Amino acid sequence: MERWRARKVVIIGAGAVGSTFAYALAQSGVADEIVLTDMDNNLVHGQVMDLAHGLPFYPNVQINVGDATDYRDAHVIVITAGSKQRPGESRLDLLQRNARIIESIMDEIQAQDSNAVVLIVSNPVDVLTYVAQRRVNWPRGRVIGSGTVLDSARFRYLLSQHCGVSVHNVHAYVLGEHGDSEFAAWSISHVAGMRFDDYCQMCGDCRDWQAERRQIEEAVRTSAYHIINYKGATYFAVGQALVRIVSAIVRNEKSVLTVSTVLEGEYGLNNVCLGVPAMVGEAGVDRVIEADLPAQERTALERSADVIREEIAQITG
Ligand SMILES: NC(=O)c1ccc[n+]([C@@H]2O[C@H](COP(=O)([O-])OP(=O)(O)OC[C@H]3O[C@@H](n4cnc5c(N)ncnc54)[C@H](O)[C@@H]3O)[C@@H](O)[C@H]2O)c1
Repeated sequence: MERWRARKVVIIGAGAVGSTFAYALAQSGVADEIVLTDMDNNLVHGQVMDLAHGLPFYPNVQINVGDATDYRDAHVIVITAGSKQRPGESRLDLLQRNARIIESIMDEIQAQDSNAVVLIVSNPVDVLTYVAQRRVNWPRGRVIGSGTVLDSARFRYLLSQHCGVSVHNVHAYVLGEHGDSEFAAWSISHVAGMRFDDYCQMCGDCRDWQAERRQIEEAVRTSAYHIINYKGATYFAVGQALVRIVSAIVRNEKSVLTVSTVLEGEYGLNNVCLGVPAMVGEAGVDRVIEADLPAQERTALERSADVIREEIAQITG
């Protein structure tokens, strides 16, 4: 009989995103053990004490400070570690520094003989997912980026507000880069099986749906900028998005999520990571779902791939 194994999630980086995700994960009941690590020893100890004092109120879970040896028996390792821009540092220097951080973490994970699925969250997430995958050369599905899961959630929320329909009945996807070149995939977004163009015709409440459509898409794309202007960082919704992805892995859900993964010919693209609908289960990405996108959306996906490829080329030479 197989021995019971705790569902263990290691979070690297105990900053705003890592700690908020840990808090959401503790409340979700999805993990039996949550381990946080950070290069800032004081921060990680403080975060774990604060989180652990909530133990009587969460479903059963352990929350500890850890180190690289915790990678060994982890189910999922979530990387939120990232460096901020230093004064006078260029965007490219920062990107290179973050790429080196991801590479060294991937080396440590390999050195521990870990079988965990690795979920990259640090930005630019698509480029860093590619860097991580290239470093270890595992089956592609085992290294996942959070992709456009958060952006798709923002899109669903805004559509539900606009249409006055429960967000749980809105199926909608943002594809491509988690960044400026992402786009709303209207052709595969629907409510009650109806595309939004058809739903709006039936509903009849909008004066100029095409203008509203553009506004919603723009609002999704600029959400992070607004939140960062207001309060410096985004962390609550991404924390929930990460619980969703980790739950799909730990519970082998085969959930369709727009995570970032290396494409191997799907959508006519190779050798690049970006957010596309994919089935997520215990081994990570089981399969990429190749939706029949119209020419305009295919072109948008290709453009987004070009943007990410350019960044990859800048750091890999
Ligand atoms: N993918 C998404 O949807 C999404 C959404 C929001 C934020 N992010 C990204 O997540 C990352 C984290 O954001 P944040 O707001 O938590 O930043 P933060 O600065 O609050 O936290 C980052 C933490 O990483 C730690 N760190 C840096 N280098 C490390 C290393 N080598 N090993 C271990 N720890 C290390 C730092 O000490 C810090 O505590 C950023 O890159 C951010 O852009 C991604």
